[in-house]
Amino acid sequence: MHIQSNINLKPYNTLALPALAEQFVSVHSTEQLCQALVVAKQQGWLVTILGGGSNLVLAADISGLVIQIAIPGVETVGETESSVQVKVGAGEDWHQFVQLSLQNGWYGLENLSLIPGMVGAAPVQNIGAYGVELAEHLVSVDIVDLQSGEQKSLNRQQCQFGYRDSIFKNALKNRAAIVSVTLELLKTSNLKLSYPALQQAVEDIPEDQLTPQKVSELVCQIRRSKLPDPASEPNAGSFFKNPVVSTEKAQQLQQQYPELVAYPLPDGNSKLAAGWLIEKAGWKGRRIGDIAIHHRQALVMVNCGTATGEELLAVAGQVVESVKETFGVELEMEPRVLPEALRHREYL
Ligand code: FAD
Ligand code: EPU
Repeated sequence: MHIQSNINLKPYNTLALPALAEQFVSVHSTEQLCQALVVAKQQGWLVTILGGGSNLVLAADISGLVIQIAIPGVETVGETESSVQVKVGAGEDWHQFVQLSLQNGWYGLENLSLIPGMVGAAPVQNIGAYGVELAEHLVSVDIVDLQSGEQKSLNRQQCQFGYRDSIFKNALKNRAAIVSVTLELLKTSNLKLSYPALQQAVEDIPEDQLTPQKVSELVCQIRRSKLPDPASEPNAGSFFKNPVVSTEKAQQLQQQYPELVAYPLPDGNSKLAAGWLIEKAGWKGRRIGDIAIHHRQALVMVNCGTATGEELLAVAGQVVESVKETFGVELEMEPRVLPEALRHREYL
């Protein structure tokens, strides 16, 4: 374990925002993580946990110790006739694990192909795409308490999953490091194809060729056609959550805008497509300084060069204001802002 000082985090976040970590360490085991926490306590350093940096806005330098979780490992820990339980280290790359699961005949994660980041961050916002959420396959999460160093396991219910939400964004925010995630995967396929773009993509595929691997390939194709690659256009995926409004509000908007994209939810509310709202408010393809609202997907904000996190948050604030003025709908950011204090001061 090698703690380094003044490390530039630009290569560690997919928005390529500049920020210095006062101290930085990469940990490859739970033991190393606990050692790092002991040092942080001795030195009085704040601790910030980092995965692949694909859902972060670095708005300023980070004081204290940034711990990058690089804990490896894939292990089968249980098996029934129809399913396997697999424990995966938090530092495994999510997409590579999805590919490995499909190669091993463990099904269920195909719709979640090509989501950037590490396995350990997946429960934090309950990653979801193309009609599937992580929570559907999650059995438990092993964590280390950042204050006490105590190790615990949380089951699915205890994780309090919601749409892009979990206990790790609420009661356990900044309080736990996830070291492994145990998932239940199926031995036979049970394809989920109802998401409109996926449904369209499978239309011409003969049924006997519709395997989980094929669905994974199609999801990758759709994603590549819609979302910019952070390697060439630095971004953090969707910058805002799709807002949930009352059905009354959705109907009122639909009267004014018949083409509004709204999905009814089981609880009677409606989820609106934030990308549609931002596009309709006139932001799609616009550029302010080095920040662009992507020309194919208005929900994605891109760092076109040397933008800072503060500049990005300022433009995001303008988008939020404008959508609120136009539709009376409040957008909420999806990525986490670091350091945490800045979110309250600079944004919304
Ligand atoms: P980071 O960005 O490093 O961290 C995110 C948050 O989780 C931070 O608060 C961090 O402190 C915390 N964290 C990270 N690791 C741990 C850990 N081990 N223990 C405790 N806390 C931790 N998301 C979706 O849900 N669906 C999508 O379809 C999707 N598409 C995307 C497309 C693109 C092009 C990009 C850039 C992002 C996309 N995202 C999507 C967002 C992102 O991929 C996910 O949120 C991912 O899980 C973040 O993983 P990460 O390792 O990069 O986390
Ligand atoms: N739309 C527009 N204009 C745009 C973008 C989208 O009108 O500029 C419309 C589309 O035409 C479509 C609807 O909005 O009718 C939904 O678009 P899309 O299918 O691309 O999905 P999304 O709602 O924009 C969400 C997730 C993505 C996830 C996809 C697929 C959120 C915040 N985003 O995007 O997740 O990959 O669905 O399931 O829920 C992420 O979280 O980072 C992310 C990329």
